[in-house]
Amino acid sequence: MTERTASSPSPGPDSERTVIVGAGDLGTRIGRRLRNAGRAVDGWKRDPTTLPEDFTGVSADLTHPAQLPELPEDTTAVVFCPTAGGRNAARYRAVYRDGLRALLERADRLGGRTGRPVRLVLISSTAVHGGESGLVDESTALHPHTATGEVLAETEQLLRSDDAVEATVLRLSGIYGPGRRRLLDQVLGGRLGTGAQGAGAQQRGATPDVDPWRISNRIHVEDAAAAAAAMVTAQHCPSVLLGVDELPVPVGMVHDWLADQLGLPRPWPQLVPADGSLEELLAVGREDLLWRSTRAHGKAVDGTRLRRFLGHLEHRDFRSGYADLVAEVAEAG
Ligand SMILES: NC(=O)c1ccc[n+]([C@@H]2O[C@H](COP(=O)([O-])OP(=O)(O)OC[C@H]3O[C@@H](n4cnc5c(N)ncnc54)[C@H](OP(=O)(O)O)[C@@H]3O)[C@@H](O)[C@H]2O)c1
Repeated sequence: MTERTASSPSPGPDSERTVIVGAGDLGTRIGRRLRNAGRAVDGWKRDPTTLPEDFTGVSADLTHPAQLPELPEDTTAVVFCPTAGGRNAARYRAVYRDGLRALLERADRLGGRTGRPVRLVLISSTAVHGGESGLVDESTALHPHTATGEVLAETEQLLRSDDAVEATVLRLSGIYGPGRRRLLDQVLGGRLGTGAQGAGAQQRGATPDVDPWRISNRIHVEDAAAAAAAMVTAQHCPSVLLGVDELPVPVGMVHDWLADQLGLPRPWPQLVPADGSLEELLAVGREDLLWRSTRAHGKAVDGTRLRRFLGHLEHRDFRSGYADLVAEVAEAG
C-alpha cells in the first residue's frame, strides 16, 4: 500500500480513480476487482496499513468529518461501505449519515471543479425493508423497523437529495463467505432445532430462538463485491439494486442442508415431509420465492434485477456459496 502525501505525484488526466470509504473486507474485495479492471483505487479508513500494496491508503475517520481530506482530482466514483462499529443509532448516525454528508460535500466540490459528477455508490442494507413481509423488490417502499434501519433509510434519502452526484444504492442482505460462518457455526454448535442435539440443548436452556420457517435472504461476499464494482464501472447504473442471491429460503432448510453436508443430524427433522427430499423442497423456492405451498413466512427479497444487471451470480444460492466453507470444516476434521 502507498500512502497519499502532499508530494504524491498527480495522476494522469485519463486515469479513473475510485475512492473506497470504509475499505474493510467488502471494500477491499471491491477495490481488487476495480484494480483488475485497470482503475486506480484509494482506500479510506482509520487504519489504512492493512490495505493491499496496490491501493493508495488514506487515513480517514468519518466521525471527524471536518478532518476528512478532499477527493483526489481524478476521482470518478466513491464507494461508501464503512461499518458503524456498534449496533446503535447514534453510531449509525455518526458514521453513515454524517459521514456520507461529508463525502457528498467533497464530491459536490469536485464535480463543481471538473464539471463531471462523481458517481456515489452507497452500500446500504435490506434492513431498510426490515418491517416488510411478502415479496420485496426495488419498487417496494422503505419500511425499516429498527432504529439503525431508520438511520440507513435516512442516509439513502440524504444521498438521493443530492443531484450534483450520480447516486446509486446497493442494499445488501446478510453477507456470508470466507470468515463469515455464523449459520455454519450454529449448526456445528449443535444448539439448534428440535432434533436430537437441539432437544438436549433445549433442556439445558441453551437453544437460540429460531423459527425454521422464517424466510432468510443472503448474498455471498464475492457477488456483493462484483455488484458494487459493476455499479462503479457500468455506463448506465440503476439507482437502486437489492443485493441478494436467487433463493430466499426458510432458514431451517439452510441448517438442515448444512447438517447433511457435515454428516450431522438435521436440526429440524420435521421440516421435510416423510415422502419428500430436501432438494425437492428447495426447488419450490425457485418456482415461488414466497414458498406459498409451505408454512414459510417473512420477507423474500427478489434478486432478479441484480442477476440481470450482472448477467449471472457466482453463487446463485447458499448451496454453492457454502461449499468451500463446508470443505474447510471437513478438511480440518
Ligand atoms: N455483514 C452483513 O451481513 C451486511 C449486510 C448488509 C450490509 N452490510 C454493509 O456492508 C458494508 C461492508 O461490511 P464489511 O463486512 O466489509 O465490514 P468491515 O470488514 O468491518 O469493513 C468496514 C471498514 O470500515 C472502517 N471504518 C469503521 N469505522 C470507520 C470510521 N469511523 N471512519 C472510517 N472508516 C471506518 C473499518 O476500518 P478501520 O477500523 O481501519 O477504520 C473497517 O475496515 C458495511 O457498509 C455494512 O453495513 C453488511
